[in-house]
Amino acid sequence: MGADTSDDAAVYRIDQDTALILTVDFFTPIVDEPYDFGRIAAANALSDVYAMGGEPVLALNILTFPSCMDAAVLGEILKGGSDKMKEAGVYIVGGHTVDDVEPKYGFTVLGFVHPDRVLTNSGILPGDLLVLTKPLGTGIATTALKARMCDPMLKDRVVESMAALNDVASKTASRLGAHASTDITGFGLLGHSLKMAELAHVTLEFWLDKLPVFGGVLDLVKEGLIPGGAYRNKEYVGENVCFGTDISDDEKMILFDPQTSGGLLVAIPPAGAEEMVKLLPGNAWIVGRALPYDGTPLRCVRLHGDS
Ligand code: CO
Ligand code: CO
Repeated sequence: MGADTSDDAAVYRIDQDTALILTVDFFTPIVDEPYDFGRIAAANALSDVYAMGGEPVLALNILTFPSCMDAAVLGEILKGGSDKMKEAGVYIVGGHTVDDVEPKYGFTVLGFVHPDRVLTNSGILPGDLLVLTKPLGTGIATTALKARMCDPMLKDRVVESMAALNDVASKTASRLGAHASTDITGFGLLGHSLKMAELAHVTLEFWLDKLPVFGGVLDLVKEGLIPGGAYRNKEYVGENVCFGTDISDDEKMILFDPQTSGGLLVAIPPAGAEEMVKLLPGNAWIVGRALPYDGTPLRCVRLHGDS
């Protein structure tokens, strides 16, 4: 399984019981603290293995770093990464560092999954509910952070969320019979959903008043703190989404906001979805449903007109 379905990672079957998962992810700093940058980079790289329903096992560091920069910063980045990998039960077995003008950090991650239990981004069935496992708005919040306009409480919540592993969400979704999953990253909620809707030939309907969003993010959008990626995602999704008339342009930008180390979006039959929310209180939300394809891949409505 590879690039043809734009899945989160490559899957290679070794035998009847074992398939190997392989993925790579690295990026430039999104927060000032090198330790936080390290653990977010690790959680983000692991996320693609979790999105496929897999168990990560080994990782290799990928690092670029300016030779003129303080080596203590480098140490903090690496410590953040290795602490997070330890939490995930993953061994960092090496890596490679290159001198560069800007730090970049990430990992190649290798994992395993049972071939019958691979969660792809293409298996959604009409009738499935959609469960999201982290709130939206990390791109907007980190844009505000760079502009020194992010409330410290919001910053803490967003950093902890980006550093949080999708391991429990993945295991729970897999065990409860999820049909499909992906992690929400650079293409935003609607960009990643469009891919899933097209692959499964279904219509995905999102309920705006059920979508978890970090508190304060909508205010930042109103102040114009919108990352460039959100506009690119809006353009990419284009006419493939139909919004309820009572949804504002500011609200729409949150659905296009590129996420760093975002949550899993899981398609799962209703009983499993209810159970998932019960098992992961505050870490899983039912945000919509899959319908037979009705001519528009994505819809976004407000369930209760007045909220
Ligand atoms: Co991914
Ligand atoms: Co990725």
